[in-house]
Amino acid sequence: MSAHAELHQKQVTLRTLQQMKRAGQKITMLTAYDATFARLLDASGVEVLLVGDSLGMVVKGESNTLGVTIEQMAYHTAAVARGTSRAHVVGDMPFLSYQANAEDALKNAAMLLRAGASSVKLEGGASIAPTVSRLVEAGIPVMGHVGLMPQSVHAMGGFVVQGKDPASRQRIIDDALALERAGAYAVVLEGIPADLAAEITARLSIPTIGIGAGPACDGQVLVVYDLLGLNPTFQPKFVKKYLAGASLFLDAFARYLAEVRGGTFPAKEHSFGVASGRDGGEKVST
Ligand code: KIV
Repeated sequence: MSAHAELHQKQVTLRTLQQMKRAGQKITMLTAYDATFARLLDASGVEVLLVGDSLGMVVKGESNTLGVTIEQMAYHTAAVARGTSRAHVVGDMPFLSYQANAEDALKNAAMLLRAGASSVKLEGGASIAPTVSRLVEAGIPVMGHVGLMPQSVHAMGGFVVQGKDPASRQRIIDDALALERAGAYAVVLEGIPADLAAEITARLSIPTIGIGAGPACDGQVLVVYDLLGLNPTFQPKFVKKYLAGASLFLDAFARYLAEVRGGTFPAKEHSFGVASGRDGGEKVST
């Protein structure tokens, strides 16, 4: 069995991710928001499932992630955890659930761990390093997130690439180093130039997971609905669509509508008869 196949059999832990960085094996991470997707993704062999606050946009239909609450994150984290038996589940800490003080952060991170996450993710660098240390001291593993930070969309002037000028570039490097010093076990690099991500990846001993950060990162993450092409009008440069999901779904919906309207669904094989006995005897599914 190859080293990669062997990894896929086992529960993914922080140690697994650290070993993968050392061995130069790429880490795969995808978002999940419910148990059905989590079950499929877990079976695929993906190492990390992120219950991202991107659910504010792709599940709730909002224009940014700021409306997501810790209760909503806990609800979706619990659903994902129920569908996962092997991947490492990360719960994303939503806007203002950790920025005010470390005690809030502890209480809110505990909600995500109790819901089934094995670690939490926080956006921010040096300014949140003391909070990261506090969580790590309490036994809560933390994944950092620097560069384009969607919870700071208004401060950044929109969803725009970060780290293009020397000062911003240096700040992102300092932020990533501060997170490593504070005890983070990995860091997401979002929306930064590929050469900056390469420099950070070389300087950190913890894994970097990129999204719109080029190929040199230790791993990659995408929002699963983007990978599946479920939103035909959303085509940012960093997304590769591995499926024409929207047209496949629309085709299935169109066939269902036509069959219901034409009276061909449900057919005999989808209908119950009286032959199998009294009420209570026949199960609706096998
Ligand atoms: O919320 C999210 O899905 C994320 C990833 C895109 C990194 O933070």
